[in-house]
Amino acid sequence: MATQTSFLPKTAARLDRMPPYGFELINRRLTQLAASGVDVIRLDIGSPDMPPPPPVIEMLKRSADNPKFHSYGSYRGLPAFRKAVAAYYARRFGVQVDPDKEVLPLIGSKEGIVNLALAFIDQGDAVIAPDLNYPAYTMGTLMAGGEVIFMQLDPSRSYLPNLDALRAHPSLNRAKLLWVNYPNNPTGATCDLALYDELIAFCREHRLLLCSDNPYAEVVYDGYRAPSALQAAGALDCTVEFMSLSKLYNMAGWRLGACIARQPIIDALLVIKSNMDSGHFRPMYEAGALALNETPQSWIDERNAIYQARRDALLAACPSIGLTAFKTSGSLYIWAKVDDGNDAAYVESALDQAQVSLTPGAMYGPAGKGYVRLSVGIEDARLQEAIARLQAWYAKRH
Ligand SMILES: Cc1ncc(COP(=O)(O)O)c(C=O)c1O
Repeated sequence: MATQTSFLPKTAARLDRMPPYGFELINRRLTQLAASGVDVIRLDIGSPDMPPPPPVIEMLKRSADNPKFHSYGSYRGLPAFRKAVAAYYARRFGVQVDPDKEVLPLIGSKEGIVNLALAFIDQGDAVIAPDLNYPAYTMGTLMAGGEVIFMQLDPSRSYLPNLDALRAHPSLNRAKLLWVNYPNNPTGATCDLALYDELIAFCREHRLLLCSDNPYAEVVYDGYRAPSALQAAGALDCTVEFMSLSKLYNMAGWRLGACIARQPIIDALLVIKSNMDSGHFRPMYEAGALALNETPQSWIDERNAIYQARRDALLAACPSIGLTAFKTSGSLYIWAKVDDGNDAAYVESALDQAQVSLTPGAMYGPAGKGYVRLSVGIEDARLQEAIARLQAWYAKRH
């Protein structure tokens, strides 16, 4: 029987502008399949399958035992966590920031990315987002009533932005923010510091805030070392960077990230944030600070070696399942062109016939049509099983 809802007020026009979150729809479908006993292997979601470093979990437990750590904390997060983020930026990137004024802890970087739009964007303003993007950049913009300007990523330049095409955009003068993300979700593209120099010059010329979303800085392969946008000369004056512990230390469910920027930007974001949430649970901050301060590089290297072997297995399998892959040196993803060009049909059939879930490229922007994204965040045995299922399915299909 249909639920009677006609007496309820109409939902906000905002909802008409925003599609539901893609992964929410995928999760819903997969939950139904699981309930009916179907064993689906998930190569769709970019969530680390391995646990955080053991001392981090120990610290969470110890800290949760402290009866004094259960009250509201500061809206600016725990000072020790801010300090740990600043120390990480100094150690890893040589970037010096004031932990009390230029670091804002977040409940996952997604929260800060969306709230940044609410802090900067009014109706009539525009935001530049790569065409192929983590959806929070565009959804935050739409939530704030702004317009999205897509910036082409050039496959012939390994998915770096095409700034020349952007210069000709008729709404460029209404843009306030420009988002980039390297190592990139969904393409796995990486960049060097020269790109940030170029972007900063562009942002200065057009009075834009460069928004660098950098959660995959430590998920890298083949000896590649990812820069921070804040390393570029003069970056701090026109750049905000988002970091996250989700992929850095396999802590996606913990929801810990941070925004690093000059104080006026941090203050603007804090106005939105402090009216929206009340900070994180103190034991999370304590454990997050320990992760940043004490995790040895060898832990990250060993984790990345596992991801790299999975990447290699997927890259090797792609030709046998009708995919042409882009070789990634960072992020959790393989971005691959569907040989017959129909990503939606490919994903649907792989789920239905092989019980393997992939992400359709169109979820990441118009340029994603005809592509799929595969994740390496899956245990080795399940990955091998997924590859075998896909190969058998594809062989039968052709
Ligand atoms: C590019 C990108 N930015 C941000 C996030 C959000 O990460 P967090 O878990 O810190 O909210 C993700 C998560 O997958 C991502 O892929």
